[in-house]
Amino acid sequence: MTERILMPEPGLPPPHASRLSPHSRTLSVRVWRGTESGHFQTFEVPRLESQTVLDVVTDIQRRLDPTLAYRFACRVGMCGSCAMTVNGRARWTCRTHIDKVAEDGRLEIAPLNNLPVVRDLVTDMSGFFDKWAKARGQFRGATTRRDDFARVPPASPARRLADAAIECIGCGVCYSSCDVVAWKPDYLGPAALNRAWTLVNDVRDTGNRERLAAVAGDAGCHACHTHMSCTERCPAKLAPTASIAGLKRATAIASLRGELEG
Ligand code: SF4
Ligand code: SF4
Ligand code: FES
Repeated sequence: MTERILMPEPGLPPPHASRLSPHSRTLSVRVWRGTESGHFQTFEVPRLESQTVLDVVTDIQRRLDPTLAYRFACRVGMCGSCAMTVNGRARWTCRTHIDKVAEDGRLEIAPLNNLPVVRDLVTDMSGFFDKWAKARGQFRGATTRRDDFARVPPASPARRLADAAIECIGCGVCYSSCDVVAWKPDYLGPAALNRAWTLVNDVRDTGNRERLAAVAGDAGCHACHTHMSCTERCPAKLAPTASIAGLKRATAIASLRGELEG
């Protein structure tokens, strides 16, 4: 395992030099390089005011090492593509300010846990989204384009339950933070189960019997140990633990009614 220290090219001023943070003029940033096996590489970057972790990664890639692989799109917490492990904890890097996470001017940035690493800071999310499909996370309606719009009163209990879980952007922070996913790789995980619960409460959906059967198995909601890491870490402030508890109740009732059998 080797470490290289890369400094800005001589004569190249740091961008926005007039906005250097008063805390410290530089950050020492350890960045994961490689795939499942690899090493941390250390970069020194200017510390700026209002700087996010994504700004730091972008600065490294644009000025110091264009081969650094990472992923982002919206930069405003909407697309879910920029999540990484920052000082040991999964976060949206575009919404995480350096002042909140840098410890003595140091940062460590790694790919999300519990997902295969494609390269550097990029993880392969296909298994994560495959689990959404396994949890029957697709809406299945019964109406056609000739039918009128469904009207679901905003204050109805089912609508409130669906609304509470619907703002998930599929970032993988909860999945990466879940110990059960780490121990039991086939566990569907908090995001897919949260999605299933949203649809269980969608009165327009017709796929609940199949969905509840899909999430009731060994890799489903009953594998959750209620550790709460998903709920504590979800940047969108959703509560997958509560959604999973709802699925546990719904599958128990369906089982008593004999609705989970073939
Ligand atoms: S539940 Fe939260 S942490 Fe999990 S994927 Fe959705 S937005 Fe991300
Ligand atoms: S509450 Fe369940 S799904 Fe969420 S982190 Fe804990 S074990 Fe994983
Ligand atoms: S870049 Fe879209 S959520 Fe961070």
